[in-house]
Order: sequence, then C-alpha cells, then structure tokens
Amino acid sequence: MRVRKVPDAEIKIFNHPLVIKDSQQYREAHYKLFQNQNPIHLEIGMGKGGFILQKAIENPHLNFIGLEKDASILYRALAKISPEIKNVRFILADANKITEIFDDEISVLYLNFSDPWPKNRHHQRRLTNLTFLKKYQLILKKKAVIIFKTDNKSFFDYSLEQFTIGGFKVIEKSLNLHQKQITQIMTEYEKKFHQKKLPIYYLKLSVN
Ligand SMILES: C[S@@+](CC[C@H](N)C(=O)[O-])C[C@H]1O[C@@H](n2cnc3c(N)ncnc32)[C@H](O)[C@@H]1O
Repeated sequence: MRVRKVPDAEIKIFNHPLVIKDSQQYREAHYKLFQNQNPIHLEIGMGKGGFILQKAIENPHLNFIGLEKDASILYRALAKISPEIKNVRFILADANKITEIFDDEISVLYLNFSDPWPKNRHHQRRLTNLTFLKKYQLILKKKAVIIFKTDNKSFFDYSLEQFTIGGFKVIEKSLNLHQKQITQIMTEYEKKFHQKKLPIYYLKLSVN
C-alpha cells in the first residue's frame, strides 16, 4: 500500500488515545485496555483500517486491535475513527514483534490481503511464511481462528501449503468468496479487486 508520507506521523500517532504505546507491558492482559473480558480480534497489516473499524462498530461485544508497521498508513486509519467507537485499539509495529507484544490472548487473527512478495527470495517476508505461523501459534488462544484473504492465487496456494505444514486446519475455503453474494465486511483492497471482478481467495483456519 502506497500513501503519501505524513510528516511526524509517529509523533502524531503516539499522541492518539487509541494507540497502544507500551504494548509489551500488556502481554497477556490486553483486555485491561478495554476494561472487559471480551474476546480480542487482531488484524495484522490493517492498512487504512476500514475493515477493522467497521467490524468494531458492528460488534460492540468484541475487542479489536489493528497492527500496522507503516506510521503514515496508521495515521490515515486514525483519521477515520469516530468518538463512539470504544472497542478498538492500534499498535504501530512490525508483525515480526508480535510474540513480544502478545501472549496467547487472541481469539481471531485476520490476514487481509497481506503483501504477497512474489519473488522467491522474499518469501520470508510473507506474513504466511512458516516462521510467522509459528509466532501466530503462540499468540492465539485455544480454539482461535485465522481468517485469510487474498486476490493472489500463487500467494493463496503458498499460504495454504504453509498453514498445512504449520498444523492449522482448514475449516472453510473459497476460491471466489463473493461469487454469489457479499456476506462479509470488505477491506479497502478487497473492494478494489471486487470492483474489477477479480476472485477473492479465502480461508478460515483453526488452531489444532
Ligand atoms: C496490501 S496492504 C492491505 C491492507 C488492508 N489489510 C486491506 O486489505 O485493505 C498490506 C498492509 O500490510 C502492512 N504490512 C506489511 N507487512 C507488515 C508487517 N510485517 N507488519 C505489519 N504490517 C505489515 C503494509 O504496511 C500494508 O498497510
């Protein structure tokens, strides 16, 4: 995702009340931020935040955390927040660091249109690379699920293979998620691909 650099984006972000500044201190206790024991859903690489904000509005009984590595992109997400949304927080961090931030406290993990990194030499940067999947195992609760969506068939095939090797079980699979009707909230990328009539590849996986 390309966005114009926001001057001093990091400073602006860290002054925002919904951005978790000292997330490592909350390991195993992120629910305290929300002052309830509701399940926590995490989106890694949430981009401009359209998906997670809509999810939060539609599901006030759940907590949502969006993690994004790019300060300018996260800044754009913050600009969309309306004051009535209480059940969402954001973290500026690279997914590499998630085991330093979370313990096994996440109920649902969303990987929406993660960068496919098509060149083989970049495979370790893919968020569905086995190295990342092992980290996800450590932050997911028992019976947690991963929702994975992409427009990229090669990345889908690669990810399915990695999930299988990593011990995740496929509960739902679609090679054209919105073929019949739209039943789920779409992300910014998803809307663009859907408008171009491209199929969306989808997996719902459980932790064994
Ligand atoms: C292709 S965009 C998709 C954005 C959004 N999920 C959507 O579907 O519209 C991928 C996003 O993931 C973020 N990202 C990529 N690698 C990341 C990483 N290692 N840690 C955190 N965020 C990452 C990028 O900065 C970008 O905002």
